[in-house]
Amino acid sequence: MRRLSCFLLITVVQLSTMFCFGQRKTIDQRVDSVLKLMTLEEKVGQLNQYNGDWAYTGPITKDGDKQAQIRNGQLGSMLNVITVEHTRQLQEMAMQSRLKIPLLFGQDIIHGFRTIFPIPLAEAASWDLALMERSARIAAIEASAAGVHWTFAPMVDIARDPRWGRVMEGAGEDPYLGSLIAAARVKGFQGRGLGNTDALMACAKHFAAYGAAVGGRDYNSVDMSERQLWETYLPPFKAAAEAGVATFMNSFNDLNGIPATSNKLLQRDILKGQWKFKGFVVSDWGSVGEMVNHGNVKDNYEAALAALTGGSDMDMESRSYRDHLAKLVREGKVKISLIDDAVRRILKKKFEMGLFEDPYRFCNKERQDSQWNNAAHLRESRSMAAKTIVLLKNQGQVLPLPKQGKTIALIGPFVKAVRDNLGFWSYQWPDDSTRIVSLWQGVQNKLGSADKMLYAKGCEIRDTSRSGFAEAVEVASRADIVVMNVGEAHDMSGEAKSRSNIHLPGAQEELIKAIQATGKPVVVLINAGRPLVFNWTADNVPAILYTWWLGTEAGNAIADVLFGDYNPSAKLPMSFPRTEGQIPIYYNHYNSGRPAKTDSDLNYVSAYIDLPNSPKFPFGFGLSYTQFEYGDISLSKTSLRSTDKLVARVTVRNSGSFSGEETVQLYIRDMVGSVIRPVKELKGFKKITLKPGESRVIEFTISVNDLRFYNEKLANDWEPGEFEIMIGGNSRDVKKMKINWAR
Ligand code: BGC
Repeated sequence: MRRLSCFLLITVVQLSTMFCFGQRKTIDQRVDSVLKLMTLEEKVGQLNQYNGDWAYTGPITKDGDKQAQIRNGQLGSMLNVITVEHTRQLQEMAMQSRLKIPLLFGQDIIHGFRTIFPIPLAEAASWDLALMERSARIAAIEASAAGVHWTFAPMVDIARDPRWGRVMEGAGEDPYLGSLIAAARVKGFQGRGLGNTDALMACAKHFAAYGAAVGGRDYNSVDMSERQLWETYLPPFKAAAEAGVATFMNSFNDLNGIPATSNKLLQRDILKGQWKFKGFVVSDWGSVGEMVNHGNVKDNYEAALAALTGGSDMDMESRSYRDHLAKLVREGKVKISLIDDAVRRILKKKFEMGLFEDPYRFCNKERQDSQWNNAAHLRESRSMAAKTIVLLKNQGQVLPLPKQGKTIALIGPFVKAVRDNLGFWSYQWPDDSTRIVSLWQGVQNKLGSADKMLYAKGCEIRDTSRSGFAEAVEVASRADIVVMNVGEAHDMSGEAKSRSNIHLPGAQEELIKAIQATGKPVVVLINAGRPLVFNWTADNVPAILYTWWLGTEAGNAIADVLFGDYNPSAKLPMSFPRTEGQIPIYYNHYNSGRPAKTDSDLNYVSAYIDLPNSPKFPFGFGLSYTQFEYGDISLSKTSLRSTDKLVARVTVRNSGSFSGEETVQLYIRDMVGSVIRPVKELKGFKKITLKPGESRVIEFTISVNDLRFYNEKLANDWEPGEFEIMIGGNSRDVKKMKINWAR
């Protein structure tokens, strides 16, 4: 009898959520129908997210019987649960709860799921928005086939501090490029829209300003002006919101003394207020409870109160909502309308994902199997990876290497590495060792055999022993060319992976010196999740490729570039410092009252007495096997009025002997502003392909919208006056012209 009445209740619930007087309801009406049936405890249940047992991406909370809590409707979402079998099992438990509200399964799908793509920072170096949208699309296809509903990506934090390990997850230092990339990634993950079974809900994180953690130390405080926040750190979040991102995640840091997790200004005023964001906000892992450590609340009871009222809808892992929210409502400290708003936002997404119709629609075993080894995705990963490799130096045209007739020594701790090619935020699969293409394998695939390949490891990644140097030098001496693969291990950049010393680790640069001393032509490949410091190498070795962490097809992609089947085209999305003392370093800085005229100017100017101001490699920099020559800028006008459009043209010529791609970059400087303007700001770029000898006129159309900034009142407006228009192949080497723009 109890069973029957339970069955009847569920049927009534289902029908009443779907129909209103026989007519199909809108999602909002359906959300309201469910909400009306919910007890306070069930509402609070929707606001909790727990970790599953497949992976841990934060400190482990060991508590209670999770399965019983799912059956009791005390959970709205889980993270780190994958495969259709496992998600189905847990979803079945949720279907045993009184109201049968389906669970959402979230996961960090940061740069691929089964097919791993280059890390996001590397992808940003391609400046290829279609590429980034596509890699997010493939990640969504594969992850959604394995039962995942929601990715905690894209990470859109602007980062000017390479000590911060999480720079690898973002798009670098520039708000303009970062905003375009944020939108592209959201579109990629969400595909044709929520409700399609190959679309993941995306999540713009970490809201906000997490990239500015003091000292580049993860989880640290952030102190910045509101103008800086609006000008530099918020634009990619705004772009993600405008692209329709389903969710936001807040961040571990405090912003000017208020934890982001309880920050009303960020979450209620800006995000849900000014930007009219209709999705929901999830906390970061445990960040609700961590407000106690911040010293902003006394205990988890106060933390729950502060976070919910501050605009955090879902509590990831801290249990503060579970343990205290219902009590807070009963005591009149939290208004039920705030709880209802949070629950509504979450239920709405569950409806949009189609989970109320069919909670198992992401649990299709055949689909999972078909996406498990997708050869087409691997091919795409390979070609994308090649497009992210940055050629930093190619003195004497050492590269590309010949495919025949030469003996090549491959030396360094990464030559035969497998796992290290994937980088942080990639999951381990049982067949990784046979699936991930090492550099050695990639070169062998290219050459058809290992007959003319020699190998020595030379040293380990981190330790300082030189015991392998002699063998490496001996191997190098038998070769015609040496390719060295050095860098950071996969777990040296990423969450909780800040480094105070960002030089090449261990004895690796010493090994490079020893090999360079043999007199053989040396090519250095640097695998890393951040800009590293490698001055000796940069100054002495003829050829350097920055090979990041490139994913499953790393070895093949590097071989494509090494042997000229792909002519490198990527451009740095972050400035590379000469040493840690220059950090934070970014191209779009203010001029100061005493700017240095040159790198050696020390005449009471803003400079270091022991270091030039300029970076080792500037933002936007990257070479090609061919050369591009830029003509002078020609402008349609030099005096404009507010409704005018300015057309800036430049002729770019491929003066080398390879066909190649160039990213032509437009920067603008507002010479006088009521609020100081940066020395240059990226305002546009165009990717072009030119054959040897070919030239093309590249055109940028500029309007006053491109001149806007946040003024003294934080209004986004432009001011008339003089502007400098700059066009070039990187942020340093630009052609310039001045114009005047009147109201
Ligand atoms: C990270 C987030 C991540 C979450 C879940 C946190 O520690 O900061 O970026 O999405 O864990 O794995």
